[in-house]
Amino acid sequence: MKILLVCLGNICRSPLAEGIMQKKIKLYGIDAEVDSAGFEPFHTGESPDERAVKVARINNIDISGYRARMFQLADFDRFDRIYVMDDNNYSDVMRKARNESDRQKVDFILNELYPGSNDVVPDPYYGHLSDFEEVFDILNQATECIAMKIKTESRK
Ligand code: 4NP
Repeated sequence: MKILLVCLGNICRSPLAEGIMQKKIKLYGIDAEVDSAGFEPFHTGESPDERAVKVARINNIDISGYRARMFQLADFDRFDRIYVMDDNNYSDVMRKARNESDRQKVDFILNELYPGSNDVVPDPYYGHLSDFEEVFDILNQATECIAMKIKTESRK
């Protein structure tokens, strides 16, 4: 199972989701690959926002080596599932989708936690450390659902 996590800048939410998911893959011995990407070219090549790095570090996750990259069309071929954080990311990815197969890979990450809700992970960029802590908690719950789902599916 190959999973791509997408937000706008690829420096706050999706690197946090990637770091948490990487940790769960190791913890639960899951056969999966995870990566993240964004749609805002401004931060390409940068490490994650220092507040995201800090909140991750507090939770024993090191995302300081990650580098922001743009979403590419080839990501539809590389990944089985593409999880977005909010409505803008959803529109951005869906606009690039070439066919129904591409579109079916895309979903809001919070639909794993709250099925059918289309709830969004709030953008913490203009917020405070507490907003990053809140995002971490939400993503921790959502990625736990994804991890459990992959583990269950791999047993079938
Ligand atoms: P992210 O947060 O999409 O969670 O990485 C943002 C990062 C940068 C910007 C906006 C959101 N920005 O406007 O530069």
